[in-house]
Amino acid sequence: MSQIVIAAVERYMNDLIPERDPVLREMEEYAEQNNIPIVGPAVGRLLFQLALALQARRVFEMGSAIGYSTIWLARAVTDDGIVYYTDGDPDNLARAEAYCRRAGVYNRVTFLLGNALELIDQVEGQFDIVFNDVDKYQYPQVFYKTAARVRQGGLLIADNVLWSGRVAGEEQDHWTEAIRQFNRLIYEAPDFFTTIVPLRDGISLSLKLYS
Ligand SMILES: C[S@@+](CC[C@H](N)C(=O)[O-])C[C@H]1O[C@@H](n2cnc3c(N)ncnc32)[C@H](O)[C@@H]1O
Repeated sequence: MSQIVIAAVERYMNDLIPERDPVLREMEEYAEQNNIPIVGPAVGRLLFQLALALQARRVFEMGSAIGYSTIWLARAVTDDGIVYYTDGDPDNLARAEAYCRRAGVYNRVTFLLGNALELIDQVEGQFDIVFNDVDKYQYPQVFYKTAARVRQGGLLIADNVLWSGRVAGEEQDHWTEAIRQFNRLIYEAPDFFTTIVPLRDGISLSLKLYS
């Protein structure tokens, strides 16, 4: 539970979500048992829905862990589409490769190991979607690094932008402050139109208005 939405309402919404396929279910269980913070099915479905709506062909993911959000996105991109997976942990990457193979999306994913903020420089062109889910202290840097890489009409999406409600409290730790700064940046940028959806831990959707 994220503590953003009233627990009973969150449970109600989660109960509406249809059962996932065995690979995603296994990943959800593995993530829970090993304290890996994945987006979960509610946000996974939103990512899937947005990628479908945009007919996304090029997606760059910042912080992909075991590849759970990667699979949701890869299942939604066009037939010739590609999702760039990034993570700094080689064990995560190996696990993500195995899951993506079993989920039938391996050919739509390019696996990149290292710092997503540097790896994005190795990939040319603009993206239909940039999905930001790296460690939170890096969020402002992610904005500066990726804003110009989202195509007009594309989306910069970020997870955890309400950070269990801490963004609205008195906390002044590095991670909370960085998320607050990121949220100000995406709302104030004239070339983006942003909405925070208070789903799970808060997810920001920033539509690129012009390049
Ligand atoms: C919240 S998890 C990602 C979960 C994933 N998006 C999902 O929902 O399935 C964050 C991941 O980002 C990785 N990470 C953090 N900072 C990073 C960076 N600068 N570059 C690449 N990976 C990073 C961590 O290793 C961790 O696996």
